[in-house]
Amino acid sequence: MAEQRLEPILNPVDLAKSLSGQHFIDGALVPARSGECFDVFNPATQKVMGQAAKGNADDVDAAVKSAAAAQKEWKKRPARERGKLIADCGLVLAAHADELARLIALETGKALRTESRVETGVLADAFTFYGGLGSELKGETVPFNPSMLTVTLREPLGVVGAIIPWNVPLMLMALKIAPALVAGNTVVVKSAEEAPLTVLRVCQLMNQILPKGCFNILSGYGPECGAPLVEHPEIAKITFTGSVETGKIVNRTAAERLIPVTLELGGKSPMIIMADADLDRAVAGAVSGMRFTRQGQSCTASSRIFVHDSLHDAFVSALTEKVNAMTMGDPLDDGTDIGCIISPEQLEKVKGYIDLGKNTANAVAHECSALPTDPALQDGLFVRPVIFTGLTNQDRICREEIFGPVTCVIRFKDYDEVIAMANDSDFGLAATIWTKDLKTAMDATQRLEAGFVQVNQNLVVQPNLSYGGIKQSGMGREASLEAMLEYFTEKKTVIINMT
Ligand code: NAI
Ligand code: MG
Repeated sequence: MAEQRLEPILNPVDLAKSLSGQHFIDGALVPARSGECFDVFNPATQKVMGQAAKGNADDVDAAVKSAAAAQKEWKKRPARERGKLIADCGLVLAAHADELARLIALETGKALRTESRVETGVLADAFTFYGGLGSELKGETVPFNPSMLTVTLREPLGVVGAIIPWNVPLMLMALKIAPALVAGNTVVVKSAEEAPLTVLRVCQLMNQILPKGCFNILSGYGPECGAPLVEHPEIAKITFTGSVETGKIVNRTAAERLIPVTLELGGKSPMIIMADADLDRAVAGAVSGMRFTRQGQSCTASSRIFVHDSLHDAFVSALTEKVNAMTMGDPLDDGTDIGCIISPEQLEKVKGYIDLGKNTANAVAHECSALPTDPALQDGLFVRPVIFTGLTNQDRICREEIFGPVTCVIRFKDYDEVIAMANDSDFGLAATIWTKDLKTAMDATQRLEAGFVQVNQNLVVQPNLSYGGIKQSGMGREASLEAMLEYFTEKKTVIINMT
């Protein structure tokens, strides 16, 4: 443990420079074995804000070896003691929340007030939550035979490989590494190419508390650095969040190695607004559910909004008005509601879908808010949110994940028809229904095919609630006590013959 605690560095430009060109391996910032780096861009200006170490199989091997060595001691510590250290990390991360929020805003273009501070709050909260669960790693006693005491033990898996994306990297990393560590595993994280720096700062902060080697972070490209992590013989489990396509690649390699995998993939989540819904609340729910403040860059985004015929026009005008009133601008400005898209590739993808939507029969594109006028942001990756009407659930833009600020409002008349449309999707991550009728609410929660169903609200992921999808949205669950037990431990059966 470092004797002197790190002080917050509130200037994100300086902080980014201080973290540039490094992995975090065996308790220290180190450059890539190859000496190579790649640029990290501020998406609000497209100017270079730092470098990331370009990881390859050699770096992966060094990180996994460090984690494997550390795990031998880490797993022997009493579970509550491990939990206490993770909870202490939560306190340190909370004390540095503003610093981390500023850096993640600079790195990802997510607005400070509406998104980045919220994310750093969840980061600290996830550590606090899991820190309290050490002694919940309980097994069972089994009434097998009166002369044989039979119990199950929850044991750690070993070294966990975690591959994370750029949209909410701090929150997603926390929901993987906090439970993995409390359960007695050690971790190697592969960060996303677009957001490799803030996660490094989290490492530096945690390093003041946890033994070296318990957690390691590598930056690098997917095929060069992510793939060797999945292939490494000492990796005992992979937990991945990202695209369906990459998730399948990861799953194939893991299947060959016979190691468990958790996959949190995309979504095309339906929101249903029944005729009896409270319109104002439903509109506010659509704004938060669609994650307009995150430029729609969310796997949970409510990107298909089914509205009853009788409310459709009023809903569309109220939603358009609300999104129009949001301010797009400098992510680091407290007055900004909506920041920018992460990368030129993602912006191209989003614009491609907007064009596709505009060229679809009967589509009307309601473009909202206004692009920033600040000359400093003229090269920024900004796009106006679009609310489409007139589309059908069969149109491509209602079926494929856009991962941008684009939602489709689809008119319906009949309840059974809308449930069928909501379920007619390759994905099954989240679903929402707005109604005042208890019977409809109960029925819909049973019929909607999704891992997370909400009635009359749109909460984001919570550390203590199981989260994950069905169908192409993934497999396994994250967050919650159950996720720690089921996805970060192995169950061992022990029989003691007492005769
Ligand atoms: P991606 O799935 O390619 O990247 C996610 C992570 O996987 C990154 O760390 C990446 O380096 C790593 N990776 C890439 N190829 C790999 C490989 N062969 N082996 C191991 N790791 C590998 O997603 P990307 O390219 O950032 O975004 C593409 C689309 O994916 C987005 O437009 C969006 O639709 C979706 N997406 C979904 C997310 C979610 O939260 N479920 C998060 C990010 C993207
Ligand atoms: Mg990719």
